[in-house]
Amino acid sequence: MTQAFPHRHVLSVEPLSQDDVQHVLNTAEAFFEVSRRPVRKVPTLRGKTIINLFYESSTRTRVSFELAAKRLSADAVNMNVSTSSVSKGESLRDTVRTLGAMQPDIVVIRHGAAGAADYVARKLDCAVINAGDGMHAHPTQALLDAFTIRRARGTLSNLSVAICGDIAHSRVARSNARLLTKFGCDVRVVGPRTLLVPGLEALGVRVFDRLEPALEGVDVVMVLRIQKERLAGPLLPSEREYNREYGISFASLASAKPDAIVMHPGPMNRGVEIDSDVADSERSCVLDQVEAGVAVRMALLYLLAGDAS
Ligand code: CP
Repeated sequence: MTQAFPHRHVLSVEPLSQDDVQHVLNTAEAFFEVSRRPVRKVPTLRGKTIINLFYESSTRTRVSFELAAKRLSADAVNMNVSTSSVSKGESLRDTVRTLGAMQPDIVVIRHGAAGAADYVARKLDCAVINAGDGMHAHPTQALLDAFTIRRARGTLSNLSVAICGDIAHSRVARSNARLLTKFGCDVRVVGPRTLLVPGLEALGVRVFDRLEPALEGVDVVMVLRIQKERLAGPLLPSEREYNREYGISFASLASAKPDAIVMHPGPMNRGVEIDSDVADSERSCVLDQVEAGVAVRMALLYLLAGDAS
């Protein structure tokens, strides 16, 4: 694990080469077993400080970054925005400058505004990791999804991947499309026209508005959450109708490869974008994705703040 990582921040997947992605995933493989040990801790980042700054709700990303830091023996501080001086009106600029004065090694930020993580990186001297910024990017989700796919299918290269559902509001879809097309994958995005936005082809993907042809022969079915909190106006007929046309069920999976895996970044709307029997089946990698999240985030913290940085 001595190969240098040629990036100061992880703000999006665009600057990462195939080699960079494989280096992150190989490093994550080395950390994966740490979380399965009786004592889940290594001294790798002793003396380092990681601040998690989440302006939006999160379960998986926030907890896994905290666990990743703690399992590497770093000091992890989770700033609760609702009980911080943000609630008194302190700006993002003043908040990050204040945190920067406390000399962290890495700031992990989730924010509702696209570009917030880039902005924070320009204000701080330390490394910054984007844990999701508006509808723009979620690079660590794409990396943990790549880790999960590589483990399940043995490769990341030249696979067929269908990304299904609320494409318009999804930073997960954008980051996954950008990462998987680097590896020659045939990436298809599918959803109702109201949840597809113009210009998606520029991501190097094929666009479908019907599920069956989109899932034809795919290796991976990636299901997206309907982001009710970001829907402005009635973009869906009804949840029931959406489930009938676009919900992932065993019936709709019939056109995918028989051993296609099913993924979902969570949290899931069961019975809307994914049926419970699929979500809980052996084809589902949902909990593998969660476990991968800790290992991949350990890898990123190590690569940005450890000996290899
Ligand atoms: N996948 C994901 O980002 O989940 P959280 O919002 O729970 O972090």
